[in-house]
Amino acid sequence: MRLDRLLGHRGALSRRDVRLALASGRVSVDGMVQVDGLLAVSPFQRVDLDGKPLQAGKPARYFMLHKPAGWVSATCHPEHPTVLDLLDEPDKDELHLAGRLDLNTTGLLLITNDGLWSRRATLPGSRLPKVYRVHTEQPIQPRYAEAFAQGIHFAYEGLTTLPATLEILAPREARLSLHEGRYHQVKRMFGHFQNKVLDLHRERIGPIVLDLQLPPGAYRSLTQAEIDAF
Ligand code: URA
Repeated sequence: MRLDRLLGHRGALSRRDVRLALASGRVSVDGMVQVDGLLAVSPFQRVDLDGKPLQAGKPARYFMLHKPAGWVSATCHPEHPTVLDLLDEPDKDELHLAGRLDLNTTGLLLITNDGLWSRRATLPGSRLPKVYRVHTEQPIQPRYAEAFAQGIHFAYEGLTTLPATLEILAPREARLSLHEGRYHQVKRMFGHFQNKVLDLHRERIGPIVLDLQLPPGAYRSLTQAEIDAF
């Protein structure tokens, strides 16, 4: 929706007041002052008037979900159940995912209606570590750690992955910390060594750790400390 219309509807302002509010720098979108009323804003963006969210009637909601295998990280899908089907919450159409996991990857997923917060969690520039436990088909060799620390070249995108840390826990099990989230990144990094990932589980995103009390499929609201951590 256009920013000026949103201000008119949600802020209950007259057209003239909308123009004045914009011109005097009282409106921000995702934390940046905006003066252009024609700007298109998505439902996931946060619009503030005088420093207060326009969606004031709708409190921000934040959840962590233990994603089970076989559930799609999407808000709707023609074939598979989506992770939102696991939430027993009202107005689920207002929620979105702060990052995704592949169909068979398990572990920590963050879900919210706060676009600014989820952007902070997922912006490539934020470089938050994402920590995965990985089980592989073949033994994991110490040379992988060196290669992952240097970066793996992804020919398709023509890029080299950021330095990642590998901790070998058992012959076929390791913990991998990434600072970005490329398509199928973990599988492709192990694929570089022709070693297939059999199980992938996300344990942590930055300061937020998957609650071990949550069995697969369960979720809980984030604590205030977790919300403030981004
Ligand atoms: N890397 C992958 O390959 N898959 C995921 O789901 C997450 C990271």
